[in-house]
Amino acid sequence: MTDTSKDRVVIFDTTLRDGEQSPGATMTHDEKLEIAELLDDMGVDIIEAGFPIASEGDFRAVSEIAERSNNSVICGLARAQLPDIDRCWEAVKHAAKPRIHTFIGTSPLHRAIPNLTQDEMADRIHETVSHARNLCDNVQWSPMDATRTEWDYLCRVVEIAIKAGASTINIPDTVGYTAPEESADLIKRLIETVPGADDVIFATHCHNDLGMATANSLAAVIGGARQIECTINGLGERAGNTALEEVVMAMKVRGDIMPYFTGIDTRKIMHLSRRVATVSGFPVQFNKAIVGKNAFAHESGIHQDGMLKNAETFEIMRPEDVGLAGTSLPLGKHSGRAALRAKLKQLGVEVGDNQLKDIFVRFKDLADRKKEVFDDDILALVSTTGDEETHLELVNLKVICGTGGPARAELEMDADGREHTATCEGDGPVDASFKAVRAIHPNTAKLQLYQVHAVTEGTDAQATVSVRLEEDGVIATGQSADTDTVVASVKAYVQALNRLIVRRKKVGPGADTREISYRDV
Ligand code: KIV
Ligand code: ZN
Repeated sequence: MTDTSKDRVVIFDTTLRDGEQSPGATMTHDEKLEIAELLDDMGVDIIEAGFPIASEGDFRAVSEIAERSNNSVICGLARAQLPDIDRCWEAVKHAAKPRIHTFIGTSPLHRAIPNLTQDEMADRIHETVSHARNLCDNVQWSPMDATRTEWDYLCRVVEIAIKAGASTINIPDTVGYTAPEESADLIKRLIETVPGADDVIFATHCHNDLGMATANSLAAVIGGARQIECTINGLGERAGNTALEEVVMAMKVRGDIMPYFTGIDTRKIMHLSRRVATVSGFPVQFNKAIVGKNAFAHESGIHQDGMLKNAETFEIMRPEDVGLAGTSLPLGKHSGRAALRAKLKQLGVEVGDNQLKDIFVRFKDLADRKKEVFDDDILALVSTTGDEETHLELVNLKVICGTGGPARAELEMDADGREHTATCEGDGPVDASFKAVRAIHPNTAKLQLYQVHAVTEGTDAQATVSVRLEEDGVIATGQSADTDTVVASVKAYVQALNRLIVRRKKVGPGADTREISYRDV
């Protein structure tokens, strides 16, 4: 039930645009569709689905997300150029509720890039926003680097955009420079000063370079903004964007001082957070607010004692409210398929029969090796399931390692239906194993990231390994979980290689590599 004494704040999620565009966070087409569906289902008002002119892949993703959208407005990004705006419209027009978001850098530093005078830029804004408005009823305009734009010029261009037909004016803090008081004041003064400001919605779009994105976004709302632009897990370039889960939960928990509400079903936050972490290859830090592994963990004796007597002693929100299951009973090797399905449901994961079959086989295999299979183990199994195109597959791996000599890996791998073996030595078991993979499938991909996380406690815990590879500007990630860290590493490496092969095949017309960044104005 909504409280009518509170103001509605619109949630604009840009995980698939600003988040996905950050180096290394590239998602596959199917992953983008899945994340968009989850965002729509969670109650996100507007999904910024991509930057259609950037590549064929972006265009296809935005078009398909638009076609499949249910409730959310589907938005695409376009620079202040007519071909960009046309391309964006071509992609979003399939949505029941389309939006074009066009922008230009208005600060002195950004104006210098296209070498436009203030007057020339003002004309460009009028021309491009009017063009977008002729195509689509719902147009958003952003003066990029607004927080470093001269006040008078900012007021002038905002007024032009409103007159040209923009119904949402977004005020980006592109480089994460502003502070909460300034953020509130800027929005408040714009609303008070610019003619026509009362007829549009002001949005806030903050980056987290100084760790103030959440505070700045909430301050902007206090100043009068009614749209927050954010991403799941705060994914985004450099230090990221405002985290959706943080602003939404802050308004929910502190409704006493922030009388606002959103349409987000907060119980879906945890599942989305996990999926975004998995598909982007950007794990969530353990102590991250709301969605970190430790956000609801109570380790110390005093805390545990307090929690047992009254959960409110150390918890300001209930774990259930963000989608964490209450008590979690571990499954074991005698648990059947029905128990597994029920557990998945409890964890907020809906799977089809085929996927369940696949997860069940791997669950049994894990339960044979591990006494108790915890919720996080099961989630790790889910995140390593997929029906992707497979060229390389791990068949068998033996590693000898220890003190007194190099590690030695004997690898059997299937490469496009043919079995190959390789034996390599290396500086540790992972190095030896990766060398063996490269002996079977020679490649020049650079290992940009290799990360290991223990999923649960104990020496028999599963390890989740994330790998990110880069080859000629094409980036692919892989993730896998296993009780054997070296096996998980090789599986993650092989998955990333499989994705690179698929992406490499697409290079040429229709390539999914971006030639244009939204920074290239
Ligand atoms: O950070 C930024 O300025 C942006 C704009 C494109 C809105 O992402
Ligand atoms: Zn941004």
